[in-house]
Amino acid sequence: MKIKVYPTSALQSKAAAQVIADQIRTKPDTVVCLATGDSPFGTYRELVRMVRDSHIDCSRLRVFGLDEWVGIPPDNTGSCHYYLHENFIRPLAIGNDRVYLFDGLSKDLSGECSRMTEAIRHAGGIDIMIVGIGMNGHIGFNEPGVDVNLWAHAIELDEITKTVGQKYFQSATPLSKGITQGFQQVFAARTLMMLAHGKKKASIIRQTAEAPVGIAIPSTLLRQHKNSLIMLDEEAASELAPSLRN
Ligand code: PGA
Repeated sequence: MKIKVYPTSALQSKAAAQVIADQIRTKPDTVVCLATGDSPFGTYRELVRMVRDSHIDCSRLRVFGLDEWVGIPPDNTGSCHYYLHENFIRPLAIGNDRVYLFDGLSKDLSGECSRMTEAIRHAGGIDIMIVGIGMNGHIGFNEPGVDVNLWAHAIELDEITKTVGQKYFQSATPLSKGITQGFQQVFAARTLMMLAHGKKKASIIRQTAEAPVGIAIPSTLLRQHKNSLIMLDEEAASELAPSLRN
């Protein structure tokens, strides 16, 4: 696990966007798997700017969603679907035939998960997966206690996730389940980029780097990933031992 720290979240976002842009330049048919939420917001904005300014060809890029709230319609502004369309898919003009997002309204969640796992396999696997980190160390909706042997799956949300998740919605929204790429997809991703900024992430980032590797804090499992890159601003890194920064 490589940790990189930037003085501000703006610089962190720029650096992360540069990594993604370089990946797309090197491999125009890159398969990306994208988180939503506050953590990657600035990175996607920077990437859109870079793509426009530098005329990076995204016409072959393939996009998979990391997760979705079960029961939340795609036109709800708090859905992952809505977020990815607003902040990535539409600005980069990614055609629908190259986008694969979870259907949170599916009546057959296990079929939806199998289709997702098969679609990723068919695409040749994920080149770069971009994730945030929950206050409880979840990655996607891989909550504490998750079975790491799972591919895409539906899961009961942790209480912390249900509470923190309210920030994405315009009014109080009952949240109970999520649907997510599993740790098998996380481990199989050729590059795993985790983004975090702000003081409130400092404690979970320290635990990610220092706590025993295991499902109690799912983000610790990223230490076992063959190519994981953690990009932080100074605030999120503020509790890290100096020896862990590079
Ligand atoms: P955030 O969410 O980026 O909005 O902080 C991260 C997460 O819950 O994975």
